[in-house]
Amino acid sequence: MTKFSILATGTIAHKMAKTIREMPQVQLYAVGSRSQEKADEFKDEYNFQVAYGSYEELAKDSQSDIIYVATPHSHHYENVKMLLLNDHHVLCEKPITVNQKQAIELYSLAKERNLLLADATWSRYMPFSHIVKEAAKNYELGKLKMIHSNFGIQKLHAKRMVDPNLAGGALLDLGIYPLNNALMFADSKVVDIETSMVKHTTGVDESNIIVLTFENGVKALLSSSMNGIMDTRIHLSYENGRIELDALPNPTKYSIYDEEQELLFEEDLPPQISGYEYQVEEMIQVLQQNKTEMISFTIDESLEVMKLLDTIRSKWNLVYPFE
Ligand SMILES: NC(=O)c1ccc[n+]([C@@H]2O[C@H](COP(=O)([O-])OP(=O)(O)OC[C@H]3O[C@@H](n4cnc5c(N)ncnc54)[C@H](OP(=O)(O)O)[C@@H]3O)[C@@H](O)[C@H]2O)c1
Repeated sequence: MTKFSILATGTIAHKMAKTIREMPQVQLYAVGSRSQEKADEFKDEYNFQVAYGSYEELAKDSQSDIIYVATPHSHHYENVKMLLLNDHHVLCEKPITVNQKQAIELYSLAKERNLLLADATWSRYMPFSHIVKEAAKNYELGKLKMIHSNFGIQKLHAKRMVDPNLAGGALLDLGIYPLNNALMFADSKVVDIETSMVKHTTGVDESNIIVLTFENGVKALLSSSMNGIMDTRIHLSYENGRIELDALPNPTKYSIYDEEQELLFEEDLPPQISGYEYQVEEMIQVLQQNKTEMISFTIDESLEVMKLLDTIRSKWNLVYPFE
């Protein structure tokens, strides 16, 4: 039985705890919070074995098999570093760090200490991209030409979204999903980036538009916003038809249309607990094989995402205060 622990008790920590509770091969072990009271509440709600009132105490406990980091972006680097220095395998929420430099340092530290550090960009571990690519082949849709993917929700009320000290902004929190979708479907290297953003009063990006050009000619038109509701369907345009996935970041079905926009085929994607289980299952599998790199989202792929985020931000001159 894998002992799974969680560092922080916010929104996503709750979702992950609920998911783990449904996974028979995993056991909720310890929770760490900056407050003992919150840790105790979280422990009681999900039936953890131990509750710590500091992240340091969680790190010092050697019993966890995996520790999941669910703090704001700005804190991933220091939280993950502390866990690696205490010999833990770590699953860290997206973006793995604020910039590529931090991510390179953490992946090197993990390698040096023979530990698994996994980037928890959950859509990367889901089966939808493989299923859809196979379907495009079976329906002879031809070459992929264009990807449209957006993520826009109302999230201005969340402090961590607008605060530059917490590495806020639409790109790092929401735009990372359309970006990953583009990379998952284009299967090629980005050779050009055009982008612009709308700045929030705090200086972070409130919304943004990104156009990627890939080496194989595929174009991706991506946007994200924390102050405007967007169509979150993923659209893939092929020479002879198109595919639509119903909603990012966790699609539940896809539909294939022909040249005349007639529906050819529609299928539900496999049932799931919440979608968060895929990354945990893969981590367990990788650890059982004594390996230190994820399969569905490799270190190079995770670093490529971080490099693109850096490049996009540099085009906007968006530098966080602690960088
Ligand atoms: N995969 C997904 O679907 C998904 C969805 C949402 C968010 N996320 C990612 O998950 C991470 C956390 O997001 P969230 O929405 O869960 O955030 P949240 O609700 O604000 O929770 C963040 C938690 O981090 C801890 N924390 C440590 N230092 C903090 C600080 N200075 N300010 C605020 N909180 C601090 C707090 O836990 P304690 O008080 O217990 O220490 C807090 O509850 C982010 O990286 C985000 O991108 C992923």
